[in-house]
Amino acid sequence: MRHAKHFVRLFALLAVVLIAFLAVRAQVVPKDFGTLGRFRASAIKEAAMREPRHLGNEACSDCHAKVNDAWAAGKHHTPQCENCHGPGLLHVKVMSEDSVAAYPDRIKAFPKALRPTTGTQECLWCHLKTFERPSALKSIKNVERHTIEKGGTFTAASKCTDCHNPHTTVVKQ
Ligand code: HEC
Ligand code: HEC
Ligand code: HEC
Ligand code: HEC
Repeated sequence: MRHAKHFVRLFALLAVVLIAFLAVRAQVVPKDFGTLGRFRASAIKEAAMREPRHLGNEACSDCHAKVNDAWAAGKHHTPQCENCHGPGLLHVKVMSEDSVAAYPDRIKAFPKALRPTTGTQECLWCHLKTFERPSALKSIKNVERHTIEKGGTFTAASKCTDCHNPHTTVVKQ
């Protein structure tokens, strides 16, 4: 047993490491971790308490009646306003406070509350032909070819909205 003290030291060290680990773990692991699964149970409540950032089309139609009517009557009434424009919460808050007429500069100050639309990237999210996309949704394989086929000139600055009205899809004359 000449080497016994080596083992004692080794196990003492392991015990210290284990105790330190348990002490740190008790400090950092939230109390409700694991009560519903391998996550913090109160995270669900916290997420549910957050204000929804997407409001739905009803939140846009009063102020943007003309766009809304064109959209509703056209071929493009499946994608919702916020599918293309991004979450509307901040924009609606800014625009609804007091009277917009009293603050004509407001839209200039806060135009980026909505996703800046380029009118091309948004379209291709849904309309670029891919293997798994349902064939009922009309899609285009190649932007350059589509533009030229439809009588346009393709450049780096070309946009779908050069020809299509984004709200109705109707081709501009
Ligand atoms: C309380 C009124 C109000 C509401 C509600 C509202 N808007 Fe607006 N919005 C405005 C005003 C005013 C402007 C600036 C004038 C304009 O372009 O018509 C504007 C501008 C915009 C623009 C152009 C932004 C730019 O940078 O040119 C977009 C896109 C837009 N709104 C989308 C939406 C969407 C989507 C919703 C619903 C989530 C919405 N708005 C709800 C009042 C409103
Ligand atoms: C398919 C994508 C798409 C959808 C859906 C959509 N928009 Fe737009 N919207 C655009 C694009 C792209 C532009 C920029 C048009 C341009 O540059 O010619 C735009 C421009 C606008 C503008 C500023 C110019 C204008 O035409 O008055 C407003 C306001 C607007 N959208 C509101 C809305 C509202 C409200 C809805 C829902 C009823 C909506 N949009 C749905 C893509 C969309
Ligand atoms: C969120 C998905 C989505 C986005 C983004 C989108 N579209 Fe559409 N688009 C559709 C759906 C779905 C239809 C089929 C008609 C319907 O059910 O509303 C459609 C129909 C069309 C059509 C008519 C096809 C036909 O039947 O003749 C054209 C053209 C079109 N979109 C062009 C565009 C352009 C241009 C943009 C960008 C400004 C765009 N789309 C953005 C989903 C989308
Ligand atoms: C030079 C003008 C022009 C440009 C730019 C353009 N289109 Fe078109 N697009 C047309 C014409 C014209 C049609 C045929 C419309 C019709 O028959 O009602 C069409 C039809 C479509 C259709 C229906 C399917 C088909 O092939 O008939 C979709 C989807 C479409 N375009 C999406 C887009 C998207 C997305 C972009 C941008 C990446 C775009 N278009 C750019 C002119 C254009």
